[in-house]
Amino acid sequence: MLKIAIVGATGYAGEELLKVLVNHPRLKITSVSAKIDKPQKIDQVFPYLKGKLDLICKEPDFSQIVPDCDLAFLALPHRVSMDVAPQFLHGGKKVIDLSADYRLKETSVYEKWYAAKHKDPEHLKGAVYGLPEVYRKKIKQAQLIANPGCYPTGIILGCLPFLSKHAVFTENIIVDAKTGLSGAGREKEALLIPQMQDNFRAYKVDEHQHSPEINQELSGFAKEKIEITFTPHLIPIKRGILSTIYFQLKNRISQEEAQKLYQDFYQNEPFVKVLPEGKFPQLRDVVKTNFCHIGLKVNPARKTAIVISAIDNLVKGASGQAVQNMNIMYGFEETEGLK
Ligand SMILES: NC(=O)c1ccc[n+]([C@@H]2O[C@H](COP(=O)([O-])OP(=O)(O)OC[C@H]3O[C@@H](n4cnc5c(N)ncnc54)[C@H](OP(=O)(O)O)[C@@H]3O)[C@@H](O)[C@H]2O)c1
Repeated sequence: MLKIAIVGATGYAGEELLKVLVNHPRLKITSVSAKIDKPQKIDQVFPYLKGKLDLICKEPDFSQIVPDCDLAFLALPHRVSMDVAPQFLHGGKKVIDLSADYRLKETSVYEKWYAAKHKDPEHLKGAVYGLPEVYRKKIKQAQLIANPGCYPTGIILGCLPFLSKHAVFTENIIVDAKTGLSGAGREKEALLIPQMQDNFRAYKVDEHQHSPEINQELSGFAKEKIEITFTPHLIPIKRGILSTIYFQLKNRISQEEAQKLYQDFYQNEPFVKVLPEGKFPQLRDVVKTNFCHIGLKVNPARKTAIVISAIDNLVKGASGQAVQNMNIMYGFEETEGLK
């Protein structure tokens, strides 16, 4: 049995990890920790875990939790993970980090967007970006996974098929995305709820910290420099991200051709579903699942295309994808625990 440590177990992503991992047949959770003031039974924090997980959640004591695990999930804020990951990695353990600390390859880019010096460039070099649809082979061998951000997951998946055929002009990809409030984490969400009742607004317009991550991954995939225009929005719902991506096509292609391109690209992917012509994703269909749904509309006369993707920010955008990565790393069925 694979032994699992969860650090940051009381947050939104940590809770979602717990929900999936307690039912996963191939592993045993050996520790749960958080910043928590006073140790507390995890089934008191989350009563639905009663009878399923009998552990005390407390501040992490690495001298105890590192020897008693094979793999650690870090559901910690950025800037905290890079202090914690080395404790496990130096102990020969594997790590899946859900924060942004190991996603950006260049420390200077990280330092600009996250306003902190990167403290662990040694492990950053070997970190694998955990997007299975692109990096499945590397994930199998990885010691450290940088689990992708929520916006990046939906947006990158929406762009890949067109980029794979160099079918679009890369200098003017425009993304308009909307997220539910849980994207901000448990504490910040509590502050947002009163502001967001009956409200809808843009934030961090063209300066969201996920932009460099999206640009890095799209540029690496397309092998040319890509800088998207990105406007994120908050909507007064709990979970889900719907991203609308606008492309200028290089050549006139039909709806059928674009549809086939997207369907063929994702035909073997267990968690990406391309919807039939005329159908577009809705959050209701993906929330609480590890699926990304994609719909598209081409205008051959104007040579434009609109792609819409939808995910659950806490599942395919965080913890579900982290478990998918674990399944790949350990040779389990990729969908185990997730369907
Ligand atoms: N929310 C999303 O949709 C989403 C999506 C993708 C990725 N992520 C990333 O996943 C990570 C967790 O996000 P979240 O939304 O779950 O945040 P969250 O709800 O704020 O939870 C953060 C967790 O980290 C713990 N923690 C904070 N500082 C700590 C420390 N110094 N030592 C030990 N534990 C500490 C907290 O413990 P206490 O509860 O005791 O304070 C809590 O368990 C973040 O890096 C976030 O960017 C989140």
